[in-house]
Amino acid sequence: MAVLVTGGAGYIGSHAVAALLERGEDVVVADNLQQGHKDAVLGGKLYVGDLRDGDFLDQVFGGNAIDAVIHFAANSLVGESMKDPGKYYHNNVYGTLCLLEKMNKYGVNKIVFSSTAATYGEPESVPIDELDRTLPTNAYGETKLAMEKMMKWFDVAHGIKFVSLRYFNAAGAHESGKIGEDHSPETHLVPLVLQTALGQRPHISVFGDDYPTEDGTCIRDYIHVSDLADAHVLAVERLRKGGGSAVYNLGNGQGFSVKQVIGIARAVTGKDIPAVVESRRAGDPAVLVASSKRARDELGWNPTRNKLEDIIGSAWAWHKANPRGYNDK
Ligand code: UFG
Repeated sequence: MAVLVTGGAGYIGSHAVAALLERGEDVVVADNLQQGHKDAVLGGKLYVGDLRDGDFLDQVFGGNAIDAVIHFAANSLVGESMKDPGKYYHNNVYGTLCLLEKMNKYGVNKIVFSSTAATYGEPESVPIDELDRTLPTNAYGETKLAMEKMMKWFDVAHGIKFVSLRYFNAAGAHESGKIGEDHSPETHLVPLVLQTALGQRPHISVFGDDYPTEDGTCIRDYIHVSDLADAHVLAVERLRKGGGSAVYNLGNGQGFSVKQVIGIARAVTGKDIPAVVESRRAGDPAVLVASSKRARDELGWNPTRNKLEDIIGSAWAWHKANPRGYNDK
């Protein structure tokens, strides 16, 4: 049986595809290539199309023996979601509805979902537990929460079991050097810092140094993208063994400030990396750190690439070898 990976040409999706292939799984990828890159798909069968296109999904489900889905396909820029929430509701929420309807039609009853720490909003306390309040502060997080809730009701009505994985800050690149992070536009801290190290940007902007943290900059929990990918494989295994629906945080449980990230990147790259403090970015919580105890206990997840030096080091190897991302391929 094959695993369908929607959004498998994207940053985290392509690393999940690689992890599945390494375990000898049959992989089918569905991606509209709006954000994804064809060259990021290291194997399996790639279908180019949109989840909102019913004929397209009939082709994918009709043409393959799929027993589980890993669902990444979505827009994921917090800032853009505040300017154009309609785009996010249409692609993320309606796209997921289309997918779940087709899964029901074709009798596929297992889905692993790419969710986010943005479902929590400003946390009540850290580290964040899965049972903590979910009150998103941006439209992106709101759509991801709506997608999780939709899955819950498709489980109740149709027995489609889901594992929702709420990631904290994904970073790093595959150890093979073949795939890495390449967003356009790029908005994430680690790749922007490394582009600055490459001289592609004059400086890195630090969005606010007046937060209630030790050095005044925001604290995040950075997790290696291949550790995230492994959790998806474990989640598929759990569902195949008859496990019920569940929600898990995925992070290292250790927070680093923006200034600390820049400092580590300077040490890793040996470059100056000029930084300029600017005003806060709207909607950024001060501190986001995960408790991933449940994922460790129940999925048997054991993130091994947890040193931030190594995470940034793997990203640096990718950026140095591919300064223009997949355009260099
Ligand atoms: N930051 C800067 N300068 C930049 C870019 C980011 O100072 O040029 C700061 C941000 O303010 C934030 C931190 O670096 O404090 C990390 O920012 P990212 O944009 O890399 O990541 P976010 O924490 O904002 O977002 C990530 C995911 C989202 C997800 C969110 C959950 O990328 O998809 O975590 O909170 F919604």
